[in-house]
Amino acid sequence: MWKGRFAQQTADLLQRYGESISYDWRLYPHDIAGSIAHARAQMNAGLLSEDEFAQIETGLREIEKEIESGEFEFSIELEDIHMNIEAALTRKIGPAGAKLHTARSRNDQVVTDTRLYCRSSIDHLFMLGTGLQRALLSQAENHAAVVVPGYTHLQRGQPVTIGHHLLAYVEMLERDKLRLRDCHRRLNICPLGSGALAGSTINLDRHAIARELGFEGVSTNSMDAIADRDYIAELLFVISLLGTHLSRLSEDLILWCSAEFGFAALSDAHTTGSSLMPQKKNPDACELTRGKTGRLVGNLVTLLTTLKGLPLTYNRDLQEDKEPLFDSIETVTLALEVNAEMIAAMEINEERCRQAAGDPALLATDLADYLVRKGIPFREAHEIVGKAVAAAEKHNTSLNRLDLTTISEAFGTDAGEVFDLETALRSRTNPGAPSIENVRGEIDRWQAHLS
Ligand code: ARG
Repeated sequence: MWKGRFAQQTADLLQRYGESISYDWRLYPHDIAGSIAHARAQMNAGLLSEDEFAQIETGLREIEKEIESGEFEFSIELEDIHMNIEAALTRKIGPAGAKLHTARSRNDQVVTDTRLYCRSSIDHLFMLGTGLQRALLSQAENHAAVVVPGYTHLQRGQPVTIGHHLLAYVEMLERDKLRLRDCHRRLNICPLGSGALAGSTINLDRHAIARELGFEGVSTNSMDAIADRDYIAELLFVISLLGTHLSRLSEDLILWCSAEFGFAALSDAHTTGSSLMPQKKNPDACELTRGKTGRLVGNLVTLLTTLKGLPLTYNRDLQEDKEPLFDSIETVTLALEVNAEMIAAMEINEERCRQAAGDPALLATDLADYLVRKGIPFREAHEIVGKAVAAAEKHNTSLNRLDLTTISEAFGTDAGEVFDLETALRSRTNPGAPSIENVRGEIDRWQAHLS
């Protein structure tokens, strides 16, 4: 593609070092859509005849089918997807193919392609995010009122319900989806027409090209348009955070599925056995999600590190933006699919949840609140209940069996009523708190929102 100036062929080693076709072939539908829009603008500017445009369009559609069906032969001598497609087109249709690159550079072509790729990936991730939310929501609905301990520091804290716990993840995923949408809005700008870095002396109708490709507008600085990879960095961040949420969910499920917790069981189809220990049922899918999240974060850091020292505008370093992007999209896509399927098939062991929630220490804070209602300042109430907890421990009994009146005269004979779990949950009625009514209200709200 640049033989005019060169007396030697590119060394084999450099070809192997510099090729990106082995991974950027994924851009082919976007590259073809971009080329057709570009060619149409050339025709409208009088640079191509109607017949030449028709040859280009038909040729590109044929190439698209060949790639789809696996017949197309990619060549590393042609470096990347852009040159592979252009060379195939010229081979197919001759001189008209050689006109296609007028007023265009691979620099504006590649950012057009990756923007389109990010845009369609975002739409798909958004839908998969909703799928996972639905799986969580249906478990939350089935177990809305099943009380379990809520934890801080992985120590039993206060009572919540399975429904409330699972809806926390529905909230996180909703924010991830909003971030995806926001990222979509910002990246949906057409850079085509920025040329290598300074536009072109041949002016095509950039707005018409943008419209044809479904962009919201055109970029307004050619140097920025060529150098910018913010949209990829942003998407990799959004995916890293989404992955981090999935990873925390995984960790909760791993704990729930342990003999120590026993709150949940994953299906045989979503767990693996041990080749040595016959009793094992391992939550590999959860562990893989937790593990792969490291890669997602790594991909973000890879790109930021690539960008930080680059002068404007294009530098070949930028080719390194693609593998982290493709890897993150493909990894998180599978993670969302696996998690949705696995969670839909998960079983909650309500009996084990009830046992764990039966720990009266979960209501120690409620006992302090009881004293507050009797007019005792909270700090003091906290100390009194702390003493009661210590006394129960010392006498090897539980908080609800202790004669609380021996700890403080502030305790009345009604203090024992605090230990009724149902009352305890019923009183947590403020917005966001886990009373069963609130949880059911939230389930209704999410159902309406996600349908
Ligand atoms: N494959 C290249 C990339 O992904 C396309 C742009 C090449 N531009 C250039 N000036 N060599 O970055």
